[in-house]
Amino acid sequence: MNMIDRQSRLSFLALALLSVAGAGLGWAAQGETTGQGADPAGSRPSAASSGESAAPLSAVAQLGKAIFFDQSLSGSGTMSCATCHDPAHHYAPANGLIVQLGGPGLDRPGIRPVPSLTYKIATPAFSVGAENPAEEAAEASPMAEASGTALSQQATPVAGPMAGQPVVKADAPADNAVPQGGMFWDGRADSLEDQALGPLLSPFEMANPDAKSLYDKIRTRYGARLAALFGNQVLDDQSMALSEVGFALARYQVEEPSFHPYSSKYDAYLRGQVKLSAAEQRGLALFDDAKKGNCASCHLDKRTDDGQMPAFTDYEFEALGVPRNPAIPANADPRYFDLGICGPQRNDDFAHQPQNCGLFKTPTLRNVAERGVYFHNGVYHTLEEATRFYVARDTDPASIYPKNPDGSIAKFNDLPETYRSNIDVIDAPMDRKLGQPPALNEAEIADVVAFLKTLSDGWSDDKAGKTTAQQQ
Ligand code: HEC
Ligand code: HEC
Repeated sequence: MNMIDRQSRLSFLALALLSVAGAGLGWAAQGETTGQGADPAGSRPSAASSGESAAPLSAVAQLGKAIFFDQSLSGSGTMSCATCHDPAHHYAPANGLIVQLGGPGLDRPGIRPVPSLTYKIATPAFSVGAENPAEEAAEASPMAEASGTALSQQATPVAGPMAGQPVVKADAPADNAVPQGGMFWDGRADSLEDQALGPLLSPFEMANPDAKSLYDKIRTRYGARLAALFGNQVLDDQSMALSEVGFALARYQVEEPSFHPYSSKYDAYLRGQVKLSAAEQRGLALFDDAKKGNCASCHLDKRTDDGQMPAFTDYEFEALGVPRNPAIPANADPRYFDLGICGPQRNDDFAHQPQNCGLFKTPTLRNVAERGVYFHNGVYHTLEEATRFYVARDTDPASIYPKNPDGSIAKFNDLPETYRSNIDVIDAPMDRKLGQPPALNEAEIADVVAFLKTLSDGWSDDKAGKTTAQQQ
């Protein structure tokens, strides 16, 4: 009997996360669902990590997999996790819609673009604390230098309902308190496990009317498997059964290699298996340069000290002030604002702290070229536009924002005026002033985009028509 009790399953998950995060990873070359069955030498993990052979999915992960693809678990009967998180598209949508349609009749639009589910496993729980000291040292951020004490501060993890409690430590200076981690654009779920029930119950996603009806479906379809894995008592306890469903979905995302294949050209480059093209190399230099793109100060692109592949995010939250996207149906109401941590999807104590309003999680840029919908409101559809935003926002706002009726520029028009002081105007390239030259010119933007395209998994020498990779 394959019984896993609650206590050990939690440490099991923690261990698995550690081993996944710590392996440096690239069990890559399994390729089974990444669409690269050809086993390209260029995407092979390095000798250091190739000892890690992908184990077959555990029974719990197999249950999670079945649930991930099960359309009958939705209110409409036709939507599964994979509908929006398609394995053939790096677990992002197959279509180019800004927001997906869900709900019982598949006609209710969502409010935010669907992120890819690749590379979520190392996401820390949501917390408010100092910027990551090691990372800050590595990136030599002007903000860390300016705030001085940042390096000595540690993050203060917070969990669970925080009703009535102060969430920022009283002795932590305000400018060191950086929200970080968590799932979703607003960090509202702490882990893959916590996250999983959200879409199953969301009225504009899988839209089960309530937890009870979901529980009934789960018991009917998966009762025997749940009982075999977690004991018969789990079937009589609605909240325990649903929490095991979340656990199984998380296990699937942790164990299934195609959620974190590390098989991009850039990974092969970091392993010394391939050279970047001249344009990609220039793009990388601009991405890193603190006076040019400065992208790497938030989208971390170096191996960590302990050899892990870069996540292309520091998991911190920022308000960038991207322009409002009239194509999101909810935005038809001029009083509606997506404030990120401050809701509408989040409603804990953090959501009521004005300094958090307008802040969204820095997304990973891995597989970003495979998405056609950028930022939390999907306002941009090309990487050129997304990159140009950063350098033109302050130097040429007329090219980014619409005009007010009086002819003035509606800068930061997707954030109510009271929260605009939260917008980052300190980090390059967003520290420039009106009329200054942009930090990147058009040729440089093209180079940065060439680099971003090296971050797509499933790269192979064959596809790129190159033969530079060395067999390990
Ligand atoms: C109707 C489309 C849809 C379906 C179906 C759906 N999701 Fe999502 N998913 C989204 C959207 C949209 C977001 C971002 C929402 C937000 O940030 O508020 C998201 C976010 C996530 C995230 C967080 C990713 C991140 O970057 O933080 C995970 C994990 C996830 N979904 C897993 C699942 C699982 C597991 C299922 C099935 C139980 C599922 N999703 C079903 C649309 C969907
Ligand atoms: C100060 C931190 C910071 C810097 C510097 C930064 N980014 Fe970002 N990036 C973010 C955050 C935060 C978001 C999400 C913001 C939102 O949606 O409102 C984001 C989103 C993006 C997205 C959209 C990804 C998606 O899946 O929707 C792209 C593309 C991107 N950044 C590229 C870049 C490039 C290129 C640079 C350098 C020119 C750069 N970023 C510099 C923090 C940063």
